[in-house]
Order: sequence, then structure tokens, then C-alpha cells
Amino acid sequence: MRLTVIGTGYLGATHAICMAVLGHDVLALDRDGERLAALAAGRVPVHEPGLPEMLRKALDSGRLRFTDDVAEVAAFGEVHFVCTGTPQLAGSMGADLSQVEGAVAALAPHLERPCLVVGKSTVPVGTAQRLAGLLARLAPAGAAAELAWNPEFLREGHAIEDTLRPSRLVLGVASETARAVLEAVFAPLLAAQVPCVVTDLATAELVKGAANSFLATKISFINAMAEVCEASGADVHQLAAALALDDRIGGRFLKPGLGFGGGCLPKDIRAFVHRAEELGTGRSVRFLREVDDINRRRRLRTVELVREQAGGDLRGVRVCVLGAAFKPHSDDVRDAPALEVAQRLHDEGARVVVVDPQALDNARRTHPDLEYADSALEAAAGARVVALLTEWDQFRGLDPRSLGEVVAQRAVVDARGALDPEAWRAAGWSVRALGAA
Ligand code: UGA
Repeated sequence: MRLTVIGTGYLGATHAICMAVLGHDVLALDRDGERLAALAAGRVPVHEPGLPEMLRKALDSGRLRFTDDVAEVAAFGEVHFVCTGTPQLAGSMGADLSQVEGAVAALAPHLERPCLVVGKSTVPVGTAQRLAGLLARLAPAGAAAELAWNPEFLREGHAIEDTLRPSRLVLGVASETARAVLEAVFAPLLAAQVPCVVTDLATAELVKGAANSFLATKISFINAMAEVCEASGADVHQLAAALALDDRIGGRFLKPGLGFGGGCLPKDIRAFVHRAEELGTGRSVRFLREVDDINRRRRLRTVELVREQAGGDLRGVRVCVLGAAFKPHSDDVRDAPALEVAQRLHDEGARVVVVDPQALDNARRTHPDLEYADSALEAAAGARVVALLTEWDQFRGLDPRSLGEVVAQRAVVDARGALDPEAWRAAGWSVRALGAA
């Protein structure tokens, strides 16, 4: 089928590449010329394992092309996937829908033939209905240019697997025609028995918001237990391990620590609350405000632990921060807990040196006040406190003895439960961790 993908960020680039690999003819649109040139030359602008190889495969097949011309996209596509971002609005908990609305408004006047416009972006419930109205008003094809919603559940670091072998497909449609078109697009996945839930537009939008809200709640639940463990002398990691053995609870997303960050979970739960309040049902999701608060408190508690390890005052103290990305296997630093902690330490007067295997370029751009090093040993040289904030394998595997030889004082804060406290204590370190007394 002839598909187009509007927006070549994380989601759009992955979707375009994977659809071409599945056998569709794909034309991807972006207004960022540099990004388009990089992709067309086979370079993926983000760190995503396996994606460069898939891009090569898609380009070699001749089925993936890029453009910045919306009229060309409209003329080419039978199905148009809208994959633009929905960041948090400045000064509000709500989502900024200008890119999604802008994409549909720009495309619609060129839609002269029957086609399906499919939203994949994460949006507040009700958006699809509004966009359907916009399409009906602006598209020369009128009602033959239809709108559908197909939320995306991909995790950074697992983008290909989550696109080609997703846990489920959710098809939000307003007609049997739209359903048939989407089933044809995803035919190879359906043939591979990927579960598929067909819904109306509003339910499809809500599934995504509800899924991210649940995941965030699970993380904050275990982090709330961590606070109770800290106050009572219990150990949250043992607690989590015991809870996980009950398969009604399960161990996934029950990892205690510095909490969730990134470009999705934090802003999505806020937008969810904001929209529910607009709908007059704010009480139903009021607990998500607490989920957000618990998550924020973990960052502040980590700063406290580093301060305690520094003897109560951070001024002039050299701190080695292990990790900048919002999670391992990613170079994404959007709302990264590690960088917020690092910045707060810096603001209290510490000399913070950050190291990360993938995210240093992005971190340098967003946090120019911090210092950066290329290796953990370099970052730790002369440090009075080492703080492990993103649990990269490289950091888990650090040898406490070698690291102990370069620091000024053997004091570590483990905010991700990634180190073996006994081994570090045996090497002469004072160890503090989130979720333990
Ligand atoms: C998240 C969802 O997991 C995806 O299903 C969704 O499609 C995506 O958002 C999106 O909305 O586009 P992602 O942002 O890539 O994916 O990251 P996650 O793997 O969900 O991790 C989020 C954060 O939670 C990270 O900072 C991670 O360190 C933290 N986390 C995760 C924990 O603190 N504990 C856990 O047990 C799991």
C-alpha cells in the first residue's frame, strides 16, 4: 500500500522504516531538512538499537523516501499516519496539540481522493473527533477523507520490536472502511497473531493515556513503598522481589529508584489529568497528581542523600554523576531524572561531572552548566561523592576498588538499586541508596 508518515521523530521514523520493511511504499514528511537528509543518507538521528540496520534495509528496498512537500504527500498516500509530537504546554499541565493540528490542517486542503488519515500521536481524548471535523471542512474529498486513531506503545530502546511485534494493535475507527484499510496495512502483524482491539476514536485515544498512567502508577507505587522502607528500616528491593512473585502483581515496572522521566510518562499523566478535569471528572484521576508528586520526591530525596554523603553542604564539593539519559539504552534526556538531580546539585554549589555512554551530546545542549567526562574513571577523579543515577550496564559493572583509587572520598549514592552494597562496602565505600535505611 502507499503510506505516508508525517513527522520523522522517534515514533515517525521508526514507523516509516518498519512499514517499508513490511513491504509498503512509504513517503515520510518532515519540515526539518537536516533530519530528512540524514535519514535519506541512512543515518538515524537518535540512539536506537537495530534501527540503523532497518533503515538501511528500507532504503535498499527502494520503498522508503523522504520529502518536505505536503502536496506530494497528499497526492501519494492512500493512508497518512500523523506522528508529530505532543509536548507539555509551557505553564500548563495540558498537551500542546499545535503540531498535530498543524499537520492535519496542512494536509487536508490537498486531499482530493478518498484516503485515511490515522493519528498515532498521544493526544487528549476528544482530539480525534475535532480533527475529523477539520478534515471534513478542509479536504476537497469531503467525507471520503476519513480519520482514524491507532495509538503507539513503543518503548525507546525496543522501538523495532514494539512496532513489528507489538503487545497489541488498537484500531480506533468510525467506519468499516477505515477498519478494513487499517487491517490491510497491518496484515502481516495480524497474520502473526498480534492481538487487535477495534474501538471507536475516543476509546483508542484513551487506551494510550490509560496505559501510560497505569505504568507510571506502578512505578510510583513501589517508590511510595520505598519511602516507607526508608522510614522503617526495611529494604524496598526485597519487598519488590517478594511482590513480583505474585503474578497478579508482576515484577515489570515495579523497579524502585529515581523514578520515571522521558518524553512520555511525565507529560502524558499530566495531560491526562488536565483533560479529565476539563471533562469534569478530575476526581477520577486525582491519584495521578500523587503519582507525579511521589516521582518528583524521589529526585529531591536523591539530592538529599548526596548532600548527606558530602557532609551536609554541597558548596565546592566535586560530585561524579553516573548517567544522564532518562533510562539506559537511550540518548534521550527529555525530563531525565539524572539531569534534574545533577542540575540541583550544581545549583547548590557542587562541581558536578556527568558521564553517560550515549547521552552526553544531548545533555551538553540542555544542561550547559554541568561538566562532562568521557569515562567513569575520569568523572570520578577527585570526587567526594559518586551518584549512580541511570543504570547503564557499564556503571553496574564498575569495580569499586579501582574507582576507590581515584576518588577523594569513598562515598556513593545508588539511586537505581544497581550496585551490590556489600561489595562496595567491602571495598571501603560508604553506601547510601534509595529505598533502604
Ligand atoms: C513509555 C511506555 O513504556 C511505552 O509503552 C509508550 O509507548 C511510550 O512511553 C510512549 O508514550 O511513547 P518510554 O518513555 O520509552 O516508554 O520509557 P519506559 O521504558 O516506559 O520508561 C519510563 C521511565 O520509567 C524511565 O525513566 C525508567 O527509568 C522508569 N522506570 C521504568 C522505573 O523507574 N521503574 C520501572 O520499573 C520501569
